[in-house]
Amino acid sequence: MAIGISLSEKLSLAGDYELNYKNKKSIEEILNYESCDIEGEKSSAPVGDLYFGDNKDILLNFIKNKKYLFDLVYIDPPFSTGTRFESRTQNHAYNDELQGSKYIEFIRERLVLIKELMSENASIYVHLDIKMVCEIKLIMDEIFGRSNFRALITRKKSNPKNFTSKTYGNISDYLLFYSKSDQYIWNRQFVEPSENHLKEYSYIDNQGRRHMRVPLHAPGERNGETGKEWKGMMPPKGKHWQYPPSKLDDLDKSGHIHWSTTGNPRRKVYLDESKGVSVQDIWMEFKDAHNQNIKITGYPTEKNEFLLERIIKASSNKNSLILDCFAGSGTTLSVSTDLGRRWVGVDNSCESIKTIYERFSKGLKKMGIHNKSIASKNNDQPLLEGLIKNFNFFLDIKKVELLKNYIKNLSETNQDKFSNLKRFLEKL
Ligand SMILES: C[S@@+](CC[C@H](N)C(=O)[O-])C[C@H]1O[C@@H](n2cnc3c(N)ncnc32)[C@H](O)[C@@H]1O
Repeated sequence: MAIGISLSEKLSLAGDYELNYKNKKSIEEILNYESCDIEGEKSSAPVGDLYFGDNKDILLNFIKNKKYLFDLVYIDPPFSTGTRFESRTQNHAYNDELQGSKYIEFIRERLVLIKELMSENASIYVHLDIKMVCEIKLIMDEIFGRSNFRALITRKKSNPKNFTSKTYGNISDYLLFYSKSDQYIWNRQFVEPSENHLKEYSYIDNQGRRHMRVPLHAPGERNGETGKEWKGMMPPKGKHWQYPPSKLDDLDKSGHIHWSTTGNPRRKVYLDESKGVSVQDIWMEFKDAHNQNIKITGYPTEKNEFLLERIIKASSNKNSLILDCFAGSGTTLSVSTDLGRRWVGVDNSCESIKTIYERFSKGLKKMGIHNKSIASKNNDQPLLEGLIKNFNFFLDIKKVELLKNYIKNLSETNQDKFSNLKRFLEKL
């Protein structure tokens, strides 16, 4: 088997290259943009803070007022598809029209601002598809540092389709995962082992315990503890011990090392001690809604709740503060609440704000009843605005008229549902 030997001196690539394009602003210019004025209505026992406005203005306001410090940021921005998105009831939600350098700079400005609001323990996940993920990877290397790049996760987003173009079917999108520093929150996630994986636990010891035997060394020579002699043996050439000699002694004492008849040590990994298989960087199990029984809000490009559950569990703790400033239907906000995390959501679409209000007061509906005729029959059920899961609501004061007009144009039953919000807007 070929082995890779790590070079003793690692090359530092920080600032070695960058992505250049027209109208790329300096960081100072971005941080010195004018922010906006915000008005808000506080609820009793809120689970989070929802903001209506352009996230650039709102984030600048947070920075100026030192308002929040986030442990986790998840964003799922427009992907540069050149598409106008409507909800399942055919209401306009948002336009995804920026292309090329304009798109890159739009995302870069927001990432520069977000970094200012991240705690030293924070992580950020940026959800994109193949159109712009490579360009934004380079931008994130510049902003967060290449050494803080943690993973590029591939998600299976849909079932295979009948593609007619002369290429492979596209069923994946991507999550770029970076941390602010190397002190980031990390709760390793595990999944049940597959049948094939279980077959690897092929040994049974004299107490009847199933286990597998794995090497005690890893590729690369080291000068520290793990490169030293243990029990009279040096690690094989081009390798180092996986643990320092003191930990190897402990493993041996507790019966976790198998010695072959020729004196070769291997680590015993017991099935009954295993938490499962640690999660890898290809996620197959979180497709977006794909059958009529799956419950959704009906907002376009809404993401799978279990995808957010994995991210939130891995990269935040109870009481962590989480930001999603492209909140859409509020998937991140809702899952954060369910997992006991506090949140801040931002969106500049009236349809998104309406959807988040509905999601928090009435929950989700099966995909099958989201078409216009069926949805209107189900709409006469009054919304329990603010009663079930309460959040604070704030908005950029420049947006008051826009939201007022949007609510005025809703059907009468829908207007009743937003009476509290209407009353609040009237006061401004
Ligand atoms: C892909 S959707 C997010 C979907 C969300 N992850 C979900 O599960 O429902 C992108 C959202 O970003 C919002 N958006 C786009 N540009 C924005 C901006 N400049 N400020 C705030 N929100 C923005 C859109 O209105 C849209 O709701």
